[in-house]
Amino acid sequence: MPTTIAAPKTKTVPAAEKDFLPLQGTDYIEFYVGNAKQAAHFYKTAFGFQSLAYSGPETGMKDRASYAIRQNKITFVLTTPLRPNHSVADHHHKHGDGVKVLALTVGDATSAWEETTKRGGKSYMEPKRLSDDDGELVMSGIRTYGEVVHLFIERLNYHGPFMPGFRKWESNYNPPETGLQHVDHCVGNVGWNQMNPWVKFYEDVMGFRNILSFDDKDISTEYSALMSKVMSNGNGFVKFPINEPAEGKKKSQVEEYLEFYNGEGVQHIAMATNNIIETVTDLQKRGVEFLHIPSTYYDTLLDRVGHIDEELNALKRLGILVDRDDEGYLLQIFTKPVEDRPTLFFEIIQRKGAKSFGKGNFKALFEAIEREQAARGNL
Ligand code: FE2
Repeated sequence: MPTTIAAPKTKTVPAAEKDFLPLQGTDYIEFYVGNAKQAAHFYKTAFGFQSLAYSGPETGMKDRASYAIRQNKITFVLTTPLRPNHSVADHHHKHGDGVKVLALTVGDATSAWEETTKRGGKSYMEPKRLSDDDGELVMSGIRTYGEVVHLFIERLNYHGPFMPGFRKWESNYNPPETGLQHVDHCVGNVGWNQMNPWVKFYEDVMGFRNILSFDDKDISTEYSALMSKVMSNGNGFVKFPINEPAEGKKKSQVEEYLEFYNGEGVQHIAMATNNIIETVTDLQKRGVEFLHIPSTYYDTLLDRVGHIDEELNALKRLGILVDRDDEGYLLQIFTKPVEDRPTLFFEIIQRKGAKSFGKGNFKALFEAIEREQAARGNL
């Protein structure tokens, strides 16, 4: 079946009711990894994250080590188990390196837990107070797709580097930042027929709205297909698109993920920059690998998106994609998976008015992903 591009189905949103789960944004993203020390080095060296805080045996945490790193408003925590019989070790054995926690900043973590669990959310952590010399932090959490959890972090009364249990991490190795500013969105891959149940979860349990939908007609190439719905919280600070595989001639990229991740999980994290050309030039120099976009993509680009501020040749040289919607345009690029398993990858995005997700790029993008999938023998 040839690629088909149809109009996205935008839903009419009813007048906003009181937001029972006011979110201030993404607080941090925690990855369970096989070697947190080396992963932290990779994210510092390749992406320009800065050392922030450390927790491990030296701070009283006997069973695991965690490195918190930060770049502007993006905080990652890299956690590894120190012993085999451990929940983090089990997670890593099953999934390889991957995202365990999508933590959200709230003003009241107790209310966030009560409001979501009362609406059917499965508790992961009852409200818990943590304190040290730098103040008090309250956290709670619920489960979402796969083994991923949302933690609600209330840090109004906490003034330490990260959270109780961590100490400031001073390093003499501090590569400069790359201009990454904040988390734009985090995408989940779920199983066959699981997109709508998880859309309902975000609507019912967390009060999110479905702001955009793409069906298999929108996102299909000659070979494989997927479906996607974008969920957003009330103020738009937190956006979680949910993908599920769709039938195609060959295996969907979402199926490949589900097979190698051994279940549902986070597919990609989009990080925003104010200057994508500078950021991507820097990331490439540091060894970050991006999907290759054929140069023919740029032959008709300006006919499709109209005037853009950036120089076409720079975009072509770096492989940056451009798409326009009613409100402006966006520039985006996707890394290759950052593990040996074809699982988690990153998106770098610069929005110039556009609030959408680059639908006009799906064909070029998914054909690029399929070339990689075919090279792995998984298409
Ligand atoms: Fe994305």
